[in-house]
Amino acid sequence: MENLENKLKVMYTEETIQNRIKEVAEIIDKDYKGEELVIISVLKGAVFFTVDLVKKMKTQIELELMQVSSYKGTQSTGNIIVKKDLDSSIEGKNVLIVEDIIDTGYTLKYLQEYLQTLNPKSLKIAVLADKKARRKADIKIDYTCFEIEDKFIVGYGFDFDEKYRNLPYIGYVEN
Ligand code: IMP
Ligand code: MG
Repeated sequence: MENLENKLKVMYTEETIQNRIKEVAEIIDKDYKGEELVIISVLKGAVFFTVDLVKKMKTQIELELMQVSSYKGTQSTGNIIVKKDLDSSIEGKNVLIVEDIIDTGYTLKYLQEYLQTLNPKSLKIAVLADKKARRKADIKIDYTCFEIEDKFIVGYGFDFDEKYRNLPYIGYVEN
C-alpha cells in the first residue's frame, strides 16, 4: 500500500478541530435548550467527531450507531444500503445525524429520507466537513464545522483504504 504519511499536509490541527467542535457543541446546546436528543453517529468515520462533540455538549443524549454504504465500488452512486440499523425507536424524539463529511450528499440524503419515515419529532444534521463544490443532492446541513475545498482528506476519522483514521489532525493529499 502506498505510504501517504510523508505526503500529507496539515489542513486542520488537533487544536483547531477541538476548538471548532467546542463552538458547534455550544450552538447545539443552545438550540435544544435542555430537551433530550438522540445522536445517530454514522460509522465508521464519524465516530471520532461524535465522541468529541458529545463530550463537549451538556444536552442529555442517547447514542445510536448506523452504518450505510454505497452499493457498488467506492464512488458515491446514490445506491445506498443500510449495513447497520438503529437499535431503538426514534419516534417522537429529537434526532441529530452526526456525519464526518458531506460530499455528493447522496449518503445523507438517503439517511435523512429513511429516518424521516420513522417519525422523529425533529431531524437535523451535523457534519465535520462539507465539500460544497461537489454537492449533487439537494440537502440542508444544520451544523458544519469546516467548509473545505475539493481535496482528499485523511485523519481524524477520514480514511485512505481504511488506514489513517486515528491521526489526531486532518491532513490532505496534494492533487
Ligand atoms: P457522499 O456525500 O454520499 O458523496 O459521501 C460521503 C462519504 O464519502 C463520506 O462518508 C466518506 O466516507 C467519503 N468521503 C468523501 N470525501 C472524502 C475524503 O476526502 N476523505 C475520506 N473519505 C471521504
Ligand atoms: Mg463515511
